[in-house]
Amino acid sequence: MQSTEQGKRKFKDYYELATDGSRWTIDQEFQACFDWTYDEGRAGMIGLYEKGKQMQWDAQTRIDWAQDLDPLNPQGMPDESLPIHAAACFQSMNETEKGEIRRHFQAWQLSQFMQGEQGALICAAKIVTQVPDSDSKFYAATQTIDEARHVEAYKLLLKKFNAVYPMTKPLADLIDQTLRDSRWDMTYLGMQVVIEGLALASFGTIRDHATNELCKQVNAYVMQDESRHVAFGRLALRDYYPTLTQKERDEREQFLLEASYLMRDRFDAIELWRHLDLPIEECATAMYESGFMDRFRNSLFSRIVPIVKDIGLWGETVRNGYEKMGVMGYADADVQALQDEDDHIARQYDARRAEIARVVNRARQTESSVVAAE
Ligand SMILES: [Fe+2]
Ligand SMILES: [Fe+2]
Repeated sequence: MQSTEQGKRKFKDYYELATDGSRWTIDQEFQACFDWTYDEGRAGMIGLYEKGKQMQWDAQTRIDWAQDLDPLNPQGMPDESLPIHAAACFQSMNETEKGEIRRHFQAWQLSQFMQGEQGALICAAKIVTQVPDSDSKFYAATQTIDEARHVEAYKLLLKKFNAVYPMTKPLADLIDQTLRDSRWDMTYLGMQVVIEGLALASFGTIRDHATNELCKQVNAYVMQDESRHVAFGRLALRDYYPTLTQKERDEREQFLLEASYLMRDRFDAIELWRHLDLPIEECATAMYESGFMDRFRNSLFSRIVPIVKDIGLWGETVRNGYEKMGVMGYADADVQALQDEDDHIARQYDARRAEIARVVNRARQTESSVVAAE
């Protein structure tokens, strides 16, 4: 899908909708904190730091960016994942027109991943500055480079879609609220628990249901890092929340619930349907009536609910809220098993690429020995 012409374009020229200027600034008021003790820290946290160092990778070389995308369905996702697939306006289109809608919807969703990753990059750097303990600072420093790499990987992938979209309002609102709050644990709660927990579930849908190898691979590698990030939030908050008063915990639960609703509704995509000149009401109706979309939205909470329970924000407010959202079924999911699986799947992609390279090399060697013999 990429021509040399596209290769020369600046990334900002890929935007389908105007952004609000070329920069977004959020006022901050918090204390930068030094730790003179340089304490060894918690074994679990230092373990994550060691893992973070050992598992660094280069998005340019670990992934073969020459792999192609199908212009009519770049990710190779089933149409059921398109929230308006049942709408009459979509059903009446020819294959080329349907392909355009798929490409734009997938690019819009992927753009939210890339934009969210920039949010994660800035939040991770804020945590390095603000968190009191050295072990958390060390770990968060490895996460900061991970997040830069994720922005890079999604940016490279988006260029192949030839379309980029600005951050949606619900995501921008949550990042704004998370960064503006001066309490260090709120950055973790907003970014490490809610945004990253939901992102993991979204990445997982593409990794597990797409048929395009490049799209599957990018998400598998990002997920391998992300599950470490969610584990970090979990470790830090599990120690901290029992030390707070009930009133302070209630306040966190309220924030958590509001953030969960904001994130659930970020898939409305109205600005996208409008941009594609589709009938808004028909699209909105099709989205709300689509059973798949309901299940999809709920499955997004598969990673977040067990973490929230684990860090001890499991009072009545959160339990009632999650009950209403229909996501309580995830409360007892095995977080460790999910993380181990993320790691295993990413390693399988490395093994696959190594095996292909081995076969190609052997074929080349055989060819050159035949030529030499002649
Ligand atoms: Fe990330
Ligand atoms: Fe992350």
